[in-house]
Amino acid sequence: MVYNFRSSFLLSVIAVLSGVSNAAPSDTGKGLKNASYTPVDFGVGTTPIINGLQPFSSSSNVTLNPSAPVLTLDYGAEIAGFPYFEVTSLGGSSAQIEIKYSEPFAGLNLSTGDGPWLYTNGLMNSFRTETFNITTTGRTESFFIQGGQRWQTITLLSNTSISIRNVGFRASVNIKPSDQLVGAFSSSNDSYDGLWSLGARAVQAACVEANSQPSTWEISNDGALIRGQYPGVSALGLGYSNYTMSFTTKITKGGTGWRVSAGANAGYGAYFILTSDGPQYLSTNNTVIPTNSVIAGFGFSIVDFYLQSAPPLYYANPIPISEDQWYRVSTTIGPSGYNISVNGTQFAFVPYTTFQPYLHSGFGSTNAITDGSWGFGPFMDQAAYFKDVEVVAQNGTTLYTNPLTSTDVLSEYLVAPNAEAVCLDGPKRDREIWIGDFSHTAKELAVSTGRYDFIQSMIEFTFKRQLTSGSGAGLVPMQDSMGSAAEFQSVYYPSQFGETDYHLFFLLTLGDYFALTSDTALLSKYWDGTKLLVQTIETLYLDHATNLLASPSASWFTAQGYQNATAPTALFATSLKQLATVATLLNDTATANYFTGLQGNLTTAINSQLWNPEQGFYSTAVGSSTDTSLLATAFTIKAGIANSSQATSSIEALSSLFYQIGYKDSSAIGSGPATQLSPNVQGFLLESLFIAYSQLNVTADVVVPVLKNLFELFWPVMLNENEYYTGTSWEYVYPDGSPGIGMFTSLAHPWGGAPTYVLTEYILGVRREFNSTTGGYGWIFDPAFEISQALGLTWAKGRVPVIGGGWIEADWSVENGNVTWNVNTSNAGNLTVDVLI
Ligand SMILES: *[C@@H]1O[C@H](CO)[C@@H](O)[C@H](O)[C@H]1NC(C)=O
Ligand SMILES: *[C@@H]1O[C@H](CO)[C@@H](O)[C@H](O)[C@H]1NC(C)=O
Ligand SMILES: *[C@@H]1O[C@H](CO)[C@@H](O)[C@H](O)[C@H]1NC(C)=O
Ligand SMILES: *[C@@H]1O[C@H](CO)[C@@H](O)[C@H](O)[C@H]1NC(C)=O
Ligand SMILES: *[C@@H]1O[C@H](CO)[C@@H](O)[C@H](O)[C@H]1NC(C)=O
Ligand SMILES: *[C@@H]1O[C@H](CO)[C@@H](O)[C@H](O)[C@H]1NC(C)=O
Ligand SMILES: *[C@@H]1O[C@H](CO)[C@@H](O)[C@H](O)[C@H]1NC(C)=O
Ligand SMILES: *[C@@H]1O[C@H](CO)[C@@H](O)[C@H](O)[C@H]1NC(C)=O
Ligand SMILES: *[C@@H]1O[C@H](CO)[C@@H](O)[C@H](O)[C@H]1NC(C)=O
Ligand SMILES: *[C@@H]1O[C@H](CO)[C@@H](O)[C@H](O)[C@H]1NC(C)=O
Ligand SMILES: *[C@@H]1O[C@H](CO)[C@@H](O)[C@H](O)[C@H]1NC(C)=O
Ligand SMILES: *[C@@H]1O[C@H](CO)[C@@H](O)[C@H](O)[C@H]1NC(C)=O
Repeated sequence: MVYNFRSSFLLSVIAVLSGVSNAAPSDTGKGLKNASYTPVDFGVGTTPIINGLQPFSSSSNVTLNPSAPVLTLDYGAEIAGFPYFEVTSLGGSSAQIEIKYSEPFAGLNLSTGDGPWLYTNGLMNSFRTETFNITTTGRTESFFIQGGQRWQTITLLSNTSISIRNVGFRASVNIKPSDQLVGAFSSSNDSYDGLWSLGARAVQAACVEANSQPSTWEISNDGALIRGQYPGVSALGLGYSNYTMSFTTKITKGGTGWRVSAGANAGYGAYFILTSDGPQYLSTNNTVIPTNSVIAGFGFSIVDFYLQSAPPLYYANPIPISEDQWYRVSTTIGPSGYNISVNGTQFAFVPYTTFQPYLHSGFGSTNAITDGSWGFGPFMDQAAYFKDVEVVAQNGTTLYTNPLTSTDVLSEYLVAPNAEAVCLDGPKRDREIWIGDFSHTAKELAVSTGRYDFIQSMIEFTFKRQLTSGSGAGLVPMQDSMGSAAEFQSVYYPSQFGETDYHLFFLLTLGDYFALTSDTALLSKYWDGTKLLVQTIETLYLDHATNLLASPSASWFTAQGYQNATAPTALFATSLKQLATVATLLNDTATANYFTGLQGNLTTAINSQLWNPEQGFYSTAVGSSTDTSLLATAFTIKAGIANSSQATSSIEALSSLFYQIGYKDSSAIGSGPATQLSPNVQGFLLESLFIAYSQLNVTADVVVPVLKNLFELFWPVMLNENEYYTGTSWEYVYPDGSPGIGMFTSLAHPWGGAPTYVLTEYILGVRREFNSTTGGYGWIFDPAFEISQALGLTWAKGRVPVIGGGWIEADWSVENGNVTWNVNTSNAGNLTVDVLI
């Protein structure tokens, strides 16, 4: 066929049904039980080593001694699971080893690894180091999941020697190399293939099967055995204040820990540790965690990590606290301080005065010192039993009792095993279910693993927790925990509902899922909930003076906090446009008309108030007309609010946002080494450039320079630096190409993986689009040849998974101006692909 740019004729070809093919594996999510990840390379020395590593094999048996105490292990790319190792010989009667985990290599050089993560539980080890006292040869497996890392060290702390083999992680997620997935993409440029793989691996690391992440508490007849971790806080005490909370505890290792006045924001509040007089690990910093003491903190923890807490206060125990003995600990929230007693003896009076200056209004209420719930969780490498909790109000009324001997308590304390399959924002951090992040994740899942069931499960998870009463009725959780239960959702409103536009992203995902699948059954099931969410957004957040989204109770992530802003309003319009199609196909004409009318009003409002004709861009917000933002451009294009010339000049205006390797979120953001460049935001931009080209007639010469910056300058930083490489997409990037919030950055964030679906949809050219003839969504093969050629690509091929199993296989190549192409389906039933070439 003659190479013909966007020719006006259209060939509708029923794709050949090629029957069963063995080319692609199926991914059912089975087989997690026996899977493990083992190191690719290792090195031994006095410090962590990145260069000159040797291959690690099942016969590698590594000896550590005081002159070469550090074993570095490289897993090659992001993996996750329960760490294990086998000791083959031991020099003395015991040896202490410290194991450390990190995504970037540099985390191995920090005493804390790339953590700790002390602001949410996440059903994992909150710490990135753990110490073991080895007394016999044999296998040891950590109790906790380490959620995501490429690197590990095992450091011998004792003055002896130890030999180790069979090191690895028992899998907690199912991660396959990208060439073993149902979905695939390759092209004449390897770097583009690498970019596709980033999102494909990130979703595998971040999406967890139902019940694959066990509780971090072990319930027994002796109460809850809780190892050192971020405390779980009761959902039942968030409305209380000024009480006395007592519990019985037995320290089995190092110390015990608890909270009172813990807020809905993951327990932000007071935190106490009681240490025993037992032996300390050689890794313990005795200044931070002295033995036989009460340590009192306020905030998220007693140590700073990315977030600051009040400097802790220390109290020596008046009587020694022994391990393996029961004690009754009481904490009273008094008028001027916390009073702590153990078996009736006062151990500490902790005044509020030193904590008050550290009270952060973003995390806790102004009454966070005296108000809030209670919770339990010892500090790093400690462990203790907890039972017989009793909470008594100031007036003597018993508010709560619980023996902590039933697994029913787990969801109350946000540490239940994950009952549903869900996708986290990142496998190591935050390990929370941020529904706004999921809009990229869902599309990456569809084109890579084909795990449409994760999208379905996320939709069900979210609707099960939709608020049904109160001032937030209709809203859905935007930042939920794996360990939660729907029955407690309302207690986390409004504190865990801080990013208002995440509701809009959920609506977008519903429409995206429908576009991908035409699944009327699932959308019908949740149609009332969908309509309720739209209505709630309109009621709570639509300003009737401007017809834009604005409300003092709203905070807009997509508009840097501005009100009456373009991006969230355009995002709402996009969602309504897609959901109007769903309404039509569900035969709900009234709702279809309503959504279309509202979308039209938002479109008019944006074009009349926020288009800046002098600058040739959409302003960030009313009152901020000379500022623009990436999402103001991306979302007005996606929503079809921008016409061809508006889209063209907005894209041309992006050059003012370019800084060193990528685009800043908005023109109001300064330029400097600490400027965060967001792959999430630029992912929406990336997609919008192809939409502008394919739907708004924006010419290739306008979009290609921006595409080159994104594909060839910005995203490749995630591939090119060995010290940061994880094979997965990142959360943020600094202008020098390093991870964007330093050690805190998640280097496995599906929200940064948009190239995965954009390459499949527009470079390979296989995607779903609405067909006005059939009135529904269908598959098309429509590669953007002109853009591919401008990007220097001469061929592409790949597979695109289809819901229900099977896939579409396509390839194209261009030689001397001639295009050859093929489209086939496999195991995908009676599927039609319309070829638009
Ligand atoms: C591993 O090396 C140690 C120290 O050389 C040795 O004692 C032990 O037998 C070896 N074990 C295996 C299984 O190779
Ligand atoms: C390690 O184990 C040895 C032998 O059981 C014991 O004597 C020592 O106290 C333990 N050390 C720690 C820190 O638990
Ligand atoms: C122990 O912690 C203190 C306080 O943070 C710090 O100044 C000191 O350097 C630490 N000691 C070691 C050996 O890391
Ligand atoms: C402390 O109190 C607990 C529980 O009330 C009791 O079992 C234990 O014997 C007491 N310990 C001491 C040292 O008095
Ligand atoms: C709790 O006590 C503090 C300090 O005594 C007081 O300011 C506050 O009003 C009390 N809270 C409630 C709900 O009574
Ligand atoms: C005692 O205090 C609790 C908690 O504040 C309250 O619910 C209860 O009504 C009070 N009871 C009496 C008798 O005042
Ligand atoms: C939105 O803009 C309108 C018109 O300028 C103004 O009345 C309203 O207060 C703004 N809303 C917010 C939340 O700033
Ligand atoms: C909508 O109505 C059409 C025509 O009656 C019917 O074929 C179709 O199944 C209906 N769709 C749904 C989701 O009920
Ligand atoms: C759209 O705006 C018109 C004119 O202001 C108004 O009558 C109509 O109710 C609005 N439609 C929706 C769905 O809000
Ligand atoms: C794009 O061009 C086609 C063909 O000229 C035209 O039908 C269509 O309306 C244009 N679309 C836009 C958004 O300008
Ligand atoms: C829409 O569907 C019709 C009927 O199957 C088909 O002939 C046509 O090619 C499709 N159009 C597009 C743009 O996919
Ligand atoms: C390209 O197509 C033209 C016209 O069909 C043909 O003459 C030419 O040989 C083709 N070139 C290649 C490299 O296939």
